[in-house]
This record gives sequence, structure tokens and C-alpha cells, in this order.
Amino acid sequence: MIREEVRFGEAEYVDQILHGDNVQVLSSLPSEVIDLSVFSPPYDGIRDYNSDWALDVIGLGRELYRTTKDGGIAAMVIGDATKDFAKSLTSFRWALDWCDHCGWRMFETCIYQRAGNPGAWWNRRFRVDHEYIMIFLKGGRPRHFDKSKLMIPSKHAGKIYSGTDRLTNGGTRQIEPKEVNAMKCRGTVWPYSTSNTEGNRTKLRHPATFPDKLAEDLIGCFSEPGDLIADPFSGSGTTCVMARNAGRRYLGIDVSAEYVSIANERLVNETQLRMVQ
Ligand SMILES: C[S@@+](CC[C@H](N)C(=O)[O-])C[C@H]1O[C@@H](n2cnc3c(N)ncnc32)[C@H](O)[C@@H]1O
Repeated sequence: MIREEVRFGEAEYVDQILHGDNVQVLSSLPSEVIDLSVFSPPYDGIRDYNSDWALDVIGLGRELYRTTKDGGIAAMVIGDATKDFAKSLTSFRWALDWCDHCGWRMFETCIYQRAGNPGAWWNRRFRVDHEYIMIFLKGGRPRHFDKSKLMIPSKHAGKIYSGTDRLTNGGTRQIEPKEVNAMKCRGTVWPYSTSNTEGNRTKLRHPATFPDKLAEDLIGCFSEPGDLIADPFSGSGTTCVMARNAGRRYLGIDVSAEYVSIANERLVNETQLRMVQ
């Protein structure tokens, strides 16, 4: 007998933080409903969370792929622990697993540059001040891509640029002199000072958050108002809060009941309660 799959109706997953294991929760969703997901998984046992959790990397990759629309994006913030002078390479393994076995394509790998403190090992290693933002794409091209919100000031704004271009055959070509624009497109290194610039006490109750602005930037670039933004590791709810404030709908999932309630608290206190019709 073929088991009939039970899928949630919209009211059960839209604008909700659901308590449970992300693979199980996602498997209850219909296909192709998520526009963008922005999340940071626990990796290498770097932090103690207050719950038992298991990570099914391939299962999550496949369920997130099934539930994401064509042209949708999954942006994963992840780093690597160091043990005995060697990096774990968890981030790279995860990326290869998702691209080789789950259907995702790698749109871009950006660097989240953060403040890194010198540790006890400071005289034997570099000070680690980055994590990766692995930007996975479903299908041929992103549904939305608006980098106008990610512009940065040009160092040489207003000056006249007249350089040379290097050609594929090794030769050079003179470029028409032109004025350098005031703003330029951000590159692949995204600097954020700390994860909690505002000293948000509710957010601080979670041990491993990412910056509000990081979520806001990804949401602004890869989605439009009304889209459904998911975070399958929602923690303190950063992605969901920023999604709601940007007029998007949200879906958070966390295995810890305590973090679900922190996220709901933030959604009440930190959003403009702007409902999308
Ligand atoms: C790095 S934190 C995410 C923090 C979040 N980005 C923020 O800014 O608050 C990872 C979260 O994943 C949750 N988690 C771990 N395994 C999970 C699973 N299998 N399903 C759902 N949530 C899980 C943990 O409880 C933890 O809150």
C-alpha cells in the first residue's frame, strides 16, 4: 500500500517558528514553497546547545531542495574548527555533499569577515576572523538578485580612470577614460563587526547568533516582499525577525523549545508587525 504523505497547509508553516528536527519538519511541507533560506548550522561541536540534536546533512540538503522553488537560494553561514593544527573542513564537505548528492549548485562562496579575538593559541596560529557564506542555488539562475542594496563607497569616487585591460591573448587594450562612480558593487568579502551590535539582551540568551545585518543583506538581495524566507536552524530567530521587518513571510525551525520561545519573543518585540497580505 502506498502511504499517503501528510503535508502542512500554509497556515501551519507560514509566519511560524516550529519546534522540531528540521528534516522532519521540512518533510511535512509541500514542494517548492520556500524562496530563500538563510541559516547557520551547528558545526564541529564548537558550542553547547541546550538540546539533543542530530545533523542529517544529506537529508536536510534534499528536503530543503525539494521545498525550495526553482531559482531559490539557500545561504549557509559555516566555519571550521581547528584541532591539532588542522582545520576540520566541515564547511567544504557540506558544500560538496549538497552539490554532489542533493541537487544544489554553488552560486557563490562569500566570506563573512568578523571580529576575531586572539585565543590561548594566538602565538601559534592566525587569528581566525572569518566564516563562509555558502550560497547554494536551485536551478539555472536566481529568481531574484538585487545587489543595489549591497553597494559600498568607491575609494576613488569622482576621479578619472584611464587604465588598460588585459586581453586573453596576453596583450593590452586602452580603456576610454571615465569617471569612477560614487558607489561600487560589494565583492565577495562581507565585513560585519559583531553578531550583536545592538547589545540585544534577548538575542544574547542564544550562544551562537549571526548579525542581523547579514540576514538583512541576503534577504534584500535574493528575495522580494511577500516571499517565504526559511531558517531551518532558527536559534534566536535572527533571519525570521529580519524577514518580517523586510515585509517577507518567514518559517523558522529549531529543535530547542527554549530557542523557539526566544525567537518568538524577538518577533514580538523587534518587528514592526507589518503583515504581508
Ligand atoms: C548556530 S545556531 C543558529 C543561530 C541563529 N542563526 C541566530 O542568529 O540566532 C544553530 C541552531 O540550530 C539548532 N539545531 C541544531 N540541530 C537542529 C536540527 N536537527 N533541527 C532543528 N534545529 C537544530 C540549535 O538548537 C541552534 O539553536
